[in-house]
Amino acid sequence: RPRVLSGIQPTSGSFHLGNYLGAVRQWVALQETHDAFYAVVDLHAITVPQDPEGLRASTRLAAAQLLAAGLDPERCTLFVQSHVPEHAQLAWVMNCMTQFGEAGRMTQFKDKSAKQGAEGTTVGLFTYPVLQVADILLYHADQVPVGEDQRQHIELTRDVAERFNGRYGRTFTVPAAYILKDTAKIYDLQDPSIKMSKSASSPKGIVNLMDEPRAAAKKIKSAVTDTGTVVRFDPAAKPGVSNLLTIYAALTGLTIPELEQKFAGQLYGPLKTELAEIVADWVAPFRERVQGYLDDPAALDAVLARGADKAREVAAPLLAEVYDKIGFLPAH
Ligand code: TYM
Repeated sequence: RPRVLSGIQPTSGSFHLGNYLGAVRQWVALQETHDAFYAVVDLHAITVPQDPEGLRASTRLAAAQLLAAGLDPERCTLFVQSHVPEHAQLAWVMNCMTQFGEAGRMTQFKDKSAKQGAEGTTVGLFTYPVLQVADILLYHADQVPVGEDQRQHIELTRDVAERFNGRYGRTFTVPAAYILKDTAKIYDLQDPSIKMSKSASSPKGIVNLMDEPRAAAKKIKSAVTDTGTVVRFDPAAKPGVSNLLTIYAALTGLTIPELEQKFAGQLYGPLKTELAEIVADWVAPFRERVQGYLDDPAALDAVLARGADKAREVAAPLLAEVYDKIGFLPAH
């Protein structure tokens, strides 16, 4: 079985529809066909300030949401990044394999550091993508299912893997990004020129998976659409309507042409009303499933403990191989 690895940050509570449609949904599908490793990346989360209790709670909440979305611990390895110390250990080595200029070209770093300001821009934020390189390479991942915004980080991973392999002999699998074109980038409902994002979107622009069903529906109903009247998929001319069609298609399995047909001759109202209902019907049972997992934190922690054990079985031998190749003296 080919292997996949991906990760998601446990930041501030709920995942949003972009996380789900861009990434997590693919994770669920891939656990059936691939040897799948999925991490809640808490080490990445602390690249911006986190409150300790809040981080603990959002890490459990993240795991609960992943289970509620359909990850099955019998079919995949679900773990918390900080439980597997090899991530931080390999990241140091990868820091020493990554050029400063190469890291400086990462557009997410530029965006995030602009937002954080000089004081909030830590070295950790700068080296964030290198930790991601380590996450991926530790598992010999063949593919990395992510949204479009992560493409550059996967490219960096490939470059660093090839550099290491060139210098020390074949060690790492050079991974490929797995990005589904249709849902690679879900846009902000209020400003469809930017992606839906925890940090950049206004509350009204973002559907959280943990939203109250009625609140989620309201956000869809008040989504910004263009001034035209025809329901047509045309991201350049009609970014708002196209985004709604993308979400509609992804949640129902209908195709875009089928939807254009369905809403032919209608204004935007029916599209929004129907999609609002679909989204509300999706979040309602999702929230209940999440709550079910949160109600039993001991069981949740046991799932994560087992996941960490399974992850370390793969990560530890690879780290040992790397340490040996770079010339570290064996510890025993
Ligand atoms: P994160 O936590 O920001 O987002 C998790 C996943 O959601 C995708 N995503 C989107 N997809 C489509 N439309 C959107 N509007 C949208 N917003 C977010 C992201 O592309 C991502 O796949 N650096 C990663 C976490 C990470 C990781 C890894 C990923 C750490 N280590 C190793 C893969 C492999 C991140 O910040 O994702």
